[in-house]
Amino acid sequence: MTDMTLEEAVRARRSVRGFLPKSVPQALMTQVFELAQWAPSGTNVQPWQVCVASGATRDALRESFMQRVRAKEPATPDYSDGRIAEQFRGRRRECARVLFDAMGIDWEDKPGRAAASFRNFEMFDAPHMAFLCMDDVFGKQSAADVGMYTQTLMLALTAHGLASCAQGTMAHYPDVVRDTFNLGSEIKVLFGLGFGYEDVSVPANTARTTRAPLAETVTFLN
Ligand SMILES: Cc1cc2nc3c(=O)[nH]c(=O)nc-3n(C[C@H](O)[C@H](O)[C@H](O)COP(=O)(O)O)c2cc1C
Repeated sequence: MTDMTLEEAVRARRSVRGFLPKSVPQALMTQVFELAQWAPSGTNVQPWQVCVASGATRDALRESFMQRVRAKEPATPDYSDGRIAEQFRGRRRECARVLFDAMGIDWEDKPGRAAASFRNFEMFDAPHMAFLCMDDVFGKQSAADVGMYTQTLMLALTAHGLASCAQGTMAHYPDVVRDTFNLGSEIKVLFGLGFGYEDVSVPANTARTTRAPLAETVTFLN
């Protein structure tokens, strides 16, 4: 573990979209995932079910995702968000702009943007992909618990010198994940989390997002 404070870890964590071809030792993965277990959840049900693909399993999954996207197979996520309001769309556009700028891709460059999007299905070359799953019996409250678990996991990874990127795109073909991990149809895939060691030479990794002013999202009342 590094000697980062919590504030340093929170500020150092960012989405990394380019990894070195170097596996994380199992002992370190066990340590990090054990720490994440301490995330809170409503009535302590711990609804997260986490499937971590490494080695040949990760390679086969990556290949399946890439094949499906190349074949233009429509995504069939277990959960999907509704249409979002303009205020949020602006933030989403800004997030894409920051990434495309870092990658040197012009907004009008459609093939360039498609190639950037395809990197998702290459798992950004992450040597490990954790799939964050949950039993269908649970609802939104428990999905929030899985989110808290995931942030705890990401901070634990950061504090151990590892990088990660949450990927909603890893939920596009949940049947592949269920088949690979032999999961029942009641187990739903929320998103993926690629992790490993950052490749600092990848231009996408120079992208830095910002945050809305505090007053836009937090209200204090006495
Ligand atoms: C649930 C979730 C799903 C995400 N899905 C993707 C994704 O599919 N592809 C991607 O490149 N980034 C994805 N991200 C990363 C976000 O774009 C990123 O967290 C956000 O822009 C803030 O940037 P930062 O993580 O560097 O602070 C996802 C993040 C979360 C929390």
